[in-house]
Amino acid sequence: MNNILIEKDNNIATVTINRPKSLNALNKETLDELLVCFHELSQDRQTHAIIITGSGEKAFVAGADISYMQSLTAQEGRAFGKLGHLVMHTIENTPQPVIAAVNGFALGGGCELALSCDMRFASDNAKFGQPEVNLGVIPGFGGTQRLPRLIGKGLANELLFSGNIIDATEALRIGLVNRVYPLDELLGECMKLAQTICSKGPVAVRLCKEAVNNGVEMDLGRGCTYEADLFGLCFAGDEQKEGMAAFLEKRKPVFKS
Ligand code: CAA
Repeated sequence: MNNILIEKDNNIATVTINRPKSLNALNKETLDELLVCFHELSQDRQTHAIIITGSGEKAFVAGADISYMQSLTAQEGRAFGKLGHLVMHTIENTPQPVIAAVNGFALGGGCELALSCDMRFASDNAKFGQPEVNLGVIPGFGGTQRLPRLIGKGLANELLFSGNIIDATEALRIGLVNRVYPLDELLGECMKLAQTICSKGPVAVRLCKEAVNNGVEMDLGRGCTYEADLFGLCFAGDEQKEGMAAFLEKRKPVFKS
C-alpha cells in the first residue's frame, strides 16, 4: 500500500490515510487501496473495531484529489464517483464498528469518508464541509445522501449549497460528530472506545451494527421484525450462553475473540 498505513493492536485496526503533502486527498490509488484494506479487514475475525484517521496534524482528508479530477471527462467523473461510493459503502458495511478520528480538515470526500463511518470523534481543530460547489461540482462520494440522513435536510442543504466550512464545536452541536477532544487526546479516546467495544461479544456487536444499518431505512414495523430475527439468532450462539451465565454467576463474561 502506498497511500495508507494499517496498524493492528490486539483486536483494533487503525487505518491512516497517508498523503500528508496533499492533506490526505483521495486519489484513485488511495480509494483502490482503501477498498482492498476494508475487504481484508472485513474477513479478519481477530479485528473487532477499526479506527480511520489522517496522517499529520492538519487534515483528516481534505477531499477527493482535485489535481486527479481536474481533467476527467463526464464518463470518467461518473466512474470516479462510483468508485468512491463503493469504498464508502464497503466501509459502512464492514461488519466491525468503524470510528472516524477526524484530526483536522474533513472536507468534500473527507467529510463523506467520515459520514460512512459508524461514529465520528473530532479534534478541536477539525473543520467540516462540503465545499464542492466552489469547484463547480456536487459531492460525489455520497455526501448529498448521507449528510441529510444524519443531520437533517435543512442543515445539510445549508452546508451543501453554501460550501460553508464549520468548526468542531458547530459539528458537535448539529450532530455531525459524537465528541470533540484536544488533538493530542483524540486517538487515545478513540482507542478507549474501541477497547470497550472489543471487550463485548464480537458477534453481538456485529449484529447490532447490522440491525442498525439495515433496519434504519425500513419502516418501524419491518425494522423491529428484522431486529427480532437477529435477536433470535443471538440465542443460537455461544455468546448469549456465556454472557447470561456470567451475569447470573456474578462474574465477568469471557467472550471468544
Ligand atoms: N486535492 C488535491 N490537493 C489538495 C487538496 C485536494 N482536495 N486539498 C489540499 N491539497 C493540497 C494543496 O494543493 C497543497 O498542495 P501544494 O503544497 O502542492 O500546493 C497542499 O495540499 C496543502 O494545501 P494548502 O496549501 O491549500 O493548505 P491551506 O492550509 O492553505 O488550506 C485547505 C487548507 C482549506 C483544506 C485547502 O487546501 C483547501 O481548500 N483544499 C480543498 C478542499 C476541497 O475543496 N475539498 C473538496 C474536494 S472535491 C470533492 O471532494 C468531491 C467529492 O465529493 C468526491
